[in-house]
Amino acid sequence: MKELLEGYAFSIQWFPGHMTKARREMESQLRLVDVVVEMLDARIPRSSANPLLQRLIGQKTRIVALSKTDMADPDVTQQWLAAFREEGLKALEVDCQKGRGTRALLSAIREAGQPVVDKWLKKGVRNHPVRVMIVGIPNVGKSTLINRLLGKNKTVTQNKPGVTRQTQWVEIGRGIELLDTPGVLWPKFEQAETGFNLAVTGAIKEDIFDRETAAAILLTRLLRLYPQQLAAAYGITLEDGETARTAEAKIGTARGAIKAGGELNLPKTVDLILRDFKFGRLGPMSLEKP
Ligand code: G4P
Repeated sequence: MKELLEGYAFSIQWFPGHMTKARREMESQLRLVDVVVEMLDARIPRSSANPLLQRLIGQKTRIVALSKTDMADPDVTQQWLAAFREEGLKALEVDCQKGRGTRALLSAIREAGQPVVDKWLKKGVRNHPVRVMIVGIPNVGKSTLINRLLGKNKTVTQNKPGVTRQTQWVEIGRGIELLDTPGVLWPKFEQAETGFNLAVTGAIKEDIFDRETAAAILLTRLLRLYPQQLAAAYGITLEDGETARTAEAKIGTARGAIKAGGELNLPKTVDLILRDFKFGRLGPMSLEKP
């Protein structure tokens, strides 16, 4: 897979090694639950989704939870929520760092699970819990959300060496039981665009793509989408016709990424740009719109 993005050839060296295992595991876990919470990175909801999920979950209710909203453009996040709701999905945002959105998530789960509770009640079973699991690609924030939902007081029995750990149900609210391990979806890389988005947001390891190229593509995009924030974050002035290369030089200079001879230290500049974006230090920015 090699494509031109912003005029740069971008590719990812990826080997779909564990896909079958991940899929089988996911299928067996899914059998146990009534409601599925799919976490998507609010900066890249399309790229962080796995289109196979809907097929795997069949008729069960899916709730979309946009994660890392503190790092995403709030206007764009609202557009995504509206778009998901138009598709008939329950969608909400969660900021796990501040713990915002978890209460709304619990209500959404309770509402989504009501038909299941009613079905049990018809069979004479009262207070049957709604069972839910959280799924998503690596690094999207699943464990952080689970810890938030569990709260400080509920501890989960730890894995003992040599003993296969059983997944456990933990009550996270009245009538709601959560599977304590998240379902891990594999990211999809069919398009360079998706690979690029996953790379710069930190969803995939850094050694399987070219960092200099990724930084140049990222800067080209940010110059188009968020020029003011970019300039403000680095304290630089951007001119008309600014390119990734010229902006890189300004950023490197502003941050002191300069070699002894006064020449730009490109690897260092690339590192700091990629790191600043990945951790949201350039301000809230989204790379995908609905
Ligand atoms: P996972 O289980 O889906 O694999 O993801 P996990 O919860 O481990 O989260 C991955 C990283 O994302 C963690 O950073 C976590 O702190 C961060 N994170 C999760 N939710 C949010 C959020 O709402 N906002 C922000 N800003 N960050 C969030 P980490 O432990 O430092 O790992 P890394 O950054 O070194 O990869």
